[in-house]
Amino acid sequence: MQEPQINPWSSTPSLDIGKTFAEFGIDPIAPVMAELPEIPYFMRRGIVVGHRDYRPIAQAIRNRTPFHILTGFMPSGHPHLGHLMVMKEVVWHVQQGGNGYITIADREAHAVRGLSWEKCNEYGKEYLACLYALGFEGETFFQSKNNRLKDLAFEAATKVNFSELTAIYGFGPDTDLAHADAVITQVADILYPQIDREPAPTVVPVGVDQDPHIRLTRGIAHKMRMFTVEERDGYISVRSKNAPDAAMEAVKKAFPHAKKYEGHVDIKGVQCADVKGKVREIERAHGGFAFFTPSSTYHIFMPGLTGGKMSSSIPESIISFYESEAVVRKKVMSGITGGRMTLEEQKRLGGEPDKCSLYLLNLFHMVTDDAELAEIRRKCTAGEITCGQCKKETAERVVAFLHDFREKMNAAADRIKV
Ligand code: TRP
Ligand code: SF4
Repeated sequence: MQEPQINPWSSTPSLDIGKTFAEFGIDPIAPVMAELPEIPYFMRRGIVVGHRDYRPIAQAIRNRTPFHILTGFMPSGHPHLGHLMVMKEVVWHVQQGGNGYITIADREAHAVRGLSWEKCNEYGKEYLACLYALGFEGETFFQSKNNRLKDLAFEAATKVNFSELTAIYGFGPDTDLAHADAVITQVADILYPQIDREPAPTVVPVGVDQDPHIRLTRGIAHKMRMFTVEERDGYISVRSKNAPDAAMEAVKKAFPHAKKYEGHVDIKGVQCADVKGKVREIERAHGGFAFFTPSSTYHIFMPGLTGGKMSSSIPESIISFYESEAVVRKKVMSGITGGRMTLEEQKRLGGEPDKCSLYLLNLFHMVTDDAELAEIRRKCTAGEITCGQCKKETAERVVAFLHDFREKMNAAADRIKV
């Protein structure tokens, strides 16, 4: 049987989130988010719904220990409101103490979408302007300009073969090499903060369409380790994957009750976390990467105004940052709502906000106050407001938001580095 696949380059990502999650082993965020000192609105409102291994991030935030936050954008068109969520997730994590990293995936845009380098450059800068407008602080880079990244990608490439790429992405004999290169570059993107700064938990906020890259990277991060540390019955076993003998010896020397065997060192009377930390130090001292396996979060997609996906290939579905007020108003006013066929029905049955692209626009970005959002929802479901009126109010919010946002984007212009 063929493995189930998610295609990161498809324009119709799987919409059945619950099923996709269960099938691929993504966990619901709710139990872990409770461990955060402050729950961000995108988790509270059910926008970020899933994760892999987010617990070490929640812990790092609570304990104020180092962690990294990284995501990437493929500059294949102008940024639009659909990109804002993941940007806000990054900014929030930086505010919680994370080291922020943004990668502009120009290699991917060039290899997979055939974009010219000039266009990649132009769009890439727009993405960065949006991030700065939202208050981003941290490192940014374009893939094609980062040599350490490319070296790391090459190193990571020693751990992947084509049958894996076929199983994960459905690559075949006619897939061009640059496409595979874009994949391994993304793997390197995700591991990059750990070579640029220090090995530490890293969280990558993405849409579920990017999960194949996350799974691949998690596997490679593990393969690039010298050691694994395993909790056994009454002792901790440090297993060598490809550690030089000097590193094994150093592990033995680091702990008084350690015994060295062929391929492993067993240690009694110690905490697993302490061994893991020490072993990482030893691994680094012997030229290893000592990577933490990266974590991820998954958000639902904001629907486009025309109902389906927000996609630059359907101009009516998106609102981009430089549209005129008249066009913005027109797009919002013709957006798909959860309203009923007739006014009489609307009053009697109320609207269906969860099916309404405008309600979701408010939920994602336009209404930051929870009480105000709840009131919109109440009025809608009680049939107390017409969609016409509600759309007008939403259009005004969007216009005001964009006006302010554009000013911030312009003010950020001189911070952008290519
Ligand atoms: N592949 C991502 C996209 O299509 C862009 C991307 C590149 C990325 N590198 C990344 C996303 C690293 C997250 C982490 O949008
Ligand atoms: Fe959407 Fe507003 Fe109509 Fe409700 S009243 S369906 S939220 S446009």
